[in-house]
Amino acid sequence: MIQTRTYDCSPTLNDTDVFNFCKTGYLMLESVVDDAINRRTTDYIDKNGHHSLLNEDWFIEAVFHNPQAAGAVRSLLGANFALPIKLPNHRVKCPMESQSWHRDGGSRYGPAVNHLQVFYYPQDTPPEMGPTEVLPGSHFFFSLQSWMGHYGTIRGAELTAAPAGSIFITAYSIWHRRSKSTAIGWRNMLKYIYWRMTPPQRDWISDPNFESGQPQNTKFQHPTHQQQHRNWFDAAEMYYWLCGSRSDFNRKVGHDHWPPGYPVPSWTPENYQNF
Ligand SMILES: [Fe+2]
Repeated sequence: MIQTRTYDCSPTLNDTDVFNFCKTGYLMLESVVDDAINRRTTDYIDKNGHHSLLNEDWFIEAVFHNPQAAGAVRSLLGANFALPIKLPNHRVKCPMESQSWHRDGGSRYGPAVNHLQVFYYPQDTPPEMGPTEVLPGSHFFFSLQSWMGHYGTIRGAELTAAPAGSIFITAYSIWHRRSKSTAIGWRNMLKYIYWRMTPPQRDWISDPNFESGQPQNTKFQHPTHQQQHRNWFDAAEMYYWLCGSRSDFNRKVGHDHWPPGYPVPSWTPENYQNF
């Protein structure tokens, strides 16, 4: 039986960061792992393969416990989150054609954030090395696996091209694929999953001025592929799920100006005649 190892640290994300994750379904942390560790990881894989990295204390400390990455995971998964128990390496001999768009097996679509899928690039991964391409916001966008593989370029998709030592964190159900590479050489990309051990609560870095319905928080930088403001509702629902506050979602979303441009009157017996 696999022993569950847990870890705790201080959260590093604030309300806005958490809400941004809800909107896009991913978070890039560039160059957060030391170069010495990046080189050591690459050398280790070349000599020993990647499987036993899971048992190397130096790797666990520098990558799984990485202060910025673990701090973000702590913000989204709560205290004493569980550490990865598997460590696949998506090792590619470039050049190579792009992979098909997909979401990984077992994806579920909803507000719950009980797992995070995390990727670590131990070497520079520019566009020529075929970095993963993600579709921001697609973690809410259900489509049958068999109906997404034929897509080519999708509007709003982003390449996770990044320097060595970068870690990016995704909602498990996000649409993604390995992009086409044109360089020559090997590319390693380690992938692993953390999961939640405690009920959700708003215990990340608090910003007392934050309200999910404020205009500055309702702008989406990426195009949506969802219908009629559904992206706003989904992001808000995920945010309040993470807060552990379903009642706030029921109370706030769909009222006043949240989502913006879709004001719903506050129905009360007193003002009912006015509408
Ligand atoms: Fe995948």
